[in-house]
Parts: sequence; C-alpha cells; structure tokens
Amino acid sequence: MYPVIAEKRERAILVGVTLNKHTRWETEEHLEELSLLADTAGATVVQRVIQERHHVDAAYFIGRGKVEALSDLVEAEAADLVIFDDDLSPAQVRNLEKVIQKKIVDRSGLILDIFARRAKTREARTQVELAQLNYLLPRLTRQWTHLSRQVGGIGTRGPGETQLEVDRRLIRKRISALSRQLDKIKSQREVRRKHRDQTFRVALVGYTNAGKSTLMNALTDADVFVEDRLFATLDATIRRMKTESARPVLLIDTVGFIRKLPHHLVASFISTLEEAREADLLLHVVDVSHPHLFEQMAVVKDVLNQLQIADKPVLHVFNKVDLLQHKGLISRLRNEFQPSVFISATRGLFLDDLRHEVIRLATEEVSELQLTLPVQDSETLARIYELADVQQAEFEDSVVRLNVRATRENLGKIRRLMAEHEYAVSSEP
Ligand code: GTP
Repeated sequence: MYPVIAEKRERAILVGVTLNKHTRWETEEHLEELSLLADTAGATVVQRVIQERHHVDAAYFIGRGKVEALSDLVEAEAADLVIFDDDLSPAQVRNLEKVIQKKIVDRSGLILDIFARRAKTREARTQVELAQLNYLLPRLTRQWTHLSRQVGGIGTRGPGETQLEVDRRLIRKRISALSRQLDKIKSQREVRRKHRDQTFRVALVGYTNAGKSTLMNALTDADVFVEDRLFATLDATIRRMKTESARPVLLIDTVGFIRKLPHHLVASFISTLEEAREADLLLHVVDVSHPHLFEQMAVVKDVLNQLQIADKPVLHVFNKVDLLQHKGLISRLRNEFQPSVFISATRGLFLDDLRHEVIRLATEEVSELQLTLPVQDSETLARIYELADVQQAEFEDSVVRLNVRATRENLGKIRRLMAEHEYAVSSEP
C-alpha cells in the first residue's frame, strides 16, 4: 500500500471551490466532511480556504493569484500538505506542487489513503492497491520515485531509461498481476457462495458513520470494529443473525458510502460490494440525527443505482433515535419511507422491531412444495437440501417424499431440477 499521509500527524490545509451552481454554505459543508476524512487519514486541519469561481482553472484548478496566497499560507502555517475537496487532473497536481512545494492531495487520493489503511482481507487489500496504482499512474511525479523499491524493481532499469519510466513500467506490471489475483479471489468466492443458497441474505448499506457496524454487533455475536471515524469498515463482514426463525439470516456489513465518492473508486469497489448485490434484502441504515440525512440518503440511493441494485427490497433503518430532538421527524419519515423501523443501535432500542421486520420479509416470500423422488438419486437430494429448508422427509419403499420451504427463486430452481428428471412436484404439502 502506498500511504499519502505519513504516520505522524501531518498539518493540512483544505481547499474548496464554490462554482456557480453551488452556494458557499454547501462548500463549507463539504469541507466539514473533508475535514473528517482528513482526520480519519491522520492529518490535522489547520486552515480552510474557499474560493468562489465561475469555472475551474485548467492549469491550477483555483485562480492563479489564489495559488500564490495559498503558497504563503502553507508557509505561515508550516503545513505539510494541501487537500482539495474535488478531483484534480494529474497536470493540475504537478503545477500546484511546483508552486507550493508541498504534497497536493485530492479527494480521491485521500479516500484511497483511508481505504488503504482500513483494508483487512486479501481481497480488499488487492482491490485498494489496484485502485491506488490506477490513480497513481498518471500522477507519478518525482515524489513517488521511491515506489520502485516497494514494488521490488531496483536493477530492472534499462539503458537510457529514466527512473520515472521504470516506475511506470513496474506499476503497469503490478496492475496486471493484481487484476489476475483479484479474478482468482472472485472465483473462489463464487464457489463459497454456492453453498449458502437457502439462507436469507441481508446487506447493511448506508452513509459512512450511520452506525452499520454497531447495528451488526447488536444483532449478532460479532465483534466488528466500531469507531467514530469514516470508513471504519471496508471489508464486507458476514455474520449470522440471532433469530428464532427456521430460515437462517445472514447479515452483511459493507463499506460506507460517501458524497462525491469518485467514479473510478466505485468501479473498483463493486466487487467488495458484490456481497450487497447478492443480498435478498437491503437494510438502508440512516443516521436520523444527522442534519443532512436526506442528502445522505440520496447519495446512498445513487450509489445503489450505480451498483445496479436499486431495485432490491429495502428496509429503511433510522438509527440513533436517542439523539433525536424533534420526534416529529419520525412520523414524516414513517410516511415517506416504507417499510421502515426506528432504532438506536448503541442503546439497543427497538431492535426487536427490526428483527421482526427482517424475519417477516425473509419468510414472506417463502412457500412450500412437496417433492417425491427416488432415494438413490443422492445428487438431486443433496441439491434440494442446499436450496431449501426440508421440513419433513418420509421414506416409502424406494422413494422419499419431502416437504420443503424455500424462496420463490430457489423453488423455481427446484421445480426445474425436478422437471429435468420427471419427478413429481405438488404445491399441496
Ligand atoms: P462506516 O464504517 O464508516 O461505514 O461506519 P458505520 O456505519 O459502520 O458506523 P459505526 O457503527 O462505526 O458507528 C459510527 C458512530 O456512531 C460510532 O461512534 C457509534 O458509537 C455511533 N452510533 C451508532 N449507533 C448509534 C446510536 O444508536 N446512537 C448513538 N448516539 N450513536 C450511535
């Protein structure tokens, strides 16, 4: 992994630009969130700078006069780096670095840095490294020449090549190696997934810091990392929910979403969120006490759209009701978002409502079938046990009669399987 921000706390100046269509107040809000991101990455914010412009400057993003002023401010504040709230082009980064002589980081670079620190599983680490290298490649400047050592390439320099070119070549090589690794990990996961067919899969999605991990811990015996920082969870964690229901329910915690999550980042995290794509139900966890909850909900919807899972059934989970000053909001939200529950994950309030609702949704679409097949067809039998909950099995001579419960989707699979073998199926158990 390639840290942007050093281990010791670095001093950062944040820069936001208010363009025509936005208000200064919005930019301030965005800088507030950027400051949380910077803090999560290990930087201390010493100043915030906002510029109002009609359009961004092609060479410097901000106006040229502002670059000089920023450079003076960096010196006066003894800042180590400048963080921009928007994405900069590689040329803009180079130009700014030339004048300011300090590290210039943009929103994508910062988010990637946090992701790099937080990724734990092999898949997430591979994913992040890949995204970092793709991001880095066009931005490679002198400050990154140490990379060659990290990717283990010293001595591979050909005659007449510059160090930068060697680094680029090494990065490309590493990118293709990582892509191959990722394909392998994905196919292994595919195999694992096949064995979990009859469970009801529930994915927790939501804006970062909404309380997904806290909720996951409250509903399972899991001990998921919880922190009042952004992106405490990066890997999809999967745990079984404690329920009385016959049908096992799996909870899947996913990475938090965030406004302006850069496009290429979403693309590279699709596979981390693949678990959400496979889910039967999404729990959209919302921090109901957040002043911008509607905007945050819209961001989440947007990412779900990008992931093409917006049409999945959603249960809205309004969390942190303990912090709510005006209870009037609850009835408004209840009318607008259905189905929904109102809980406090830390206080354990109304969690039974939530469990109840999840189980209702899990069993709602389940129906029963009676199947009759020869006992010796162990392969089909095993497949049925994989796809359904077998309620009852009666053996009679050489046939077995099964009463099974499964989701509509799995019942469809079972019907097809039975039809292939011309075995009897009846809907009257
Ligand atoms: P990401 O990993 O960034 O996506 O965050 P997350 O959605 O998993 O949030 P997490 O569970 O880490 O919680 C974020 C913060 O909110 C923590 O400080 C929690 O203690 C706090 N929190 C979670 N639920 C509640 C709640 O019901 N009430 C209050 N007051 N705080 C809560």
